Amino acid sequence: MGRFTDRSIIVTGAARGIGAAYARALATEGAKVVVADLNSELGESVAKQITADGGTAVFAQVDVADPASAKAVADFTVAQFGGIHHLVNNAAIYGDMKLDILLTVPWDYYKKFMAVNLDGALNMTRAVYKHIAKAGGGSIVNQSSTAAWTYSGFYGLAKAGINSLTQQLAHELGHSKIRVNAIAPGPTDTEATRSIVPEQFVDQLVKQMALKRLGTTEDMVGACLYLLSDDAAWVTGQVLNVDGGQVF
Ligand code: NAI
Repeated sequence: MGRFTDRSIIVTGAARGIGAAYARALATEGAKVVVADLNSELGESVAKQITADGGTAVFAQVDVADPASAKAVADFTVAQFGGIHHLVNNAAIYGDMKLDILLTVPWDYYKKFMAVNLDGALNMTRAVYKHIAKAGGGSIVNQSSTAAWTYSGFYGLAKAGINSLTQQLAHELGHSKIRVNAIAPGPTDTEATRSIVPEQFVDQLVKQMALKRLGTTEDMVGACLYLLSDDAAWVTGQVLNVDGGQVF
C-alpha cells in the first residue's frame, strides 16, 4: 500500500522532466495518474511506461492556457478514474531569454507566456476544485521556482505570481478541505535546462549553491509527494524551496 493508493491525480507537464518523475513516483505509490501535457507523443510514452511497470496511468492532451481544455481534462479524469483527489500544476515554458526584459518584451509574447506559466495553474485549479471537494478533499501542488526570489525577468514574475496564487487559493479552498502548496526548485538537470541555459551560466549557478550541484528530477519527488500526501495534512499556503541551498 502506497500513500496514494486509489487516489486520482492529474500531473500537468508530465510528458518529460520533473513532471514525468512526479507521475512515475505517484504511480509507484499507488496513484491513478493522468499524464496531462500538450505533447502527445512524449506524454503517451510516459503513460505507457508507467503501465508497463505495473502502475496506472493514462495520457490526456491539455493546453493549460485554455480554460476549456483544462475543463476537458478534468472531465476526462472523472470519466476514467471516478473522481479527482489531487492536482500538480507543473507545466510551464521557459521563454526566449533574449526577450526577457520587462520594459521591451512584446506584449503578445508576454501575454502568451503568462497564459501558460501563471494562468495555467489557475485554469486547472478552477477546473478541478469542485471534483476534489466532492471526493472529500485533497491537495494541490504548484510548481514555482527559485526564480521567484532572484532576478529572473518575466519567468520570475510568473513564478512569483504562482507563489501568491498558492497562498490565495490555500485561503479560498481551505474550507473545502483542499490544501494548496508550492515547490520552488532550484536549477535542475532536465532536457529543458540543458537546452536553454548556457553551460557557463550553469557552472556559475552551481558555485553559488551550498550543495554545489544541480538538482535531479528525483530530488524534487520527495517534496512533491510529501506536500500532496496526508503527511502534510496541516500544511497549506506554503512555498517549499528544494534548491540545494541556492536561496536562504
Ligand atoms: P520541461 O520543459 O522538461 O517540461 C515541461 C512540460 O510542460 C513539457 O512536457 C511541455 O510539453 C509541457 N507544457 C508546456 N506548455 C504546456 C501547456 N500549455 N499545456 C500543457 N503542457 C505544457 O520542464 P522541467 O525542466 O521539467 O520543469 C518543470 C517545471 O519545473 C516547470 O514549471 C518549471 O518552470 C519548473 N522549474 C524547473 C526548473 C529546472 O531547472 N528545470 C527550476 C525551477 C522550476
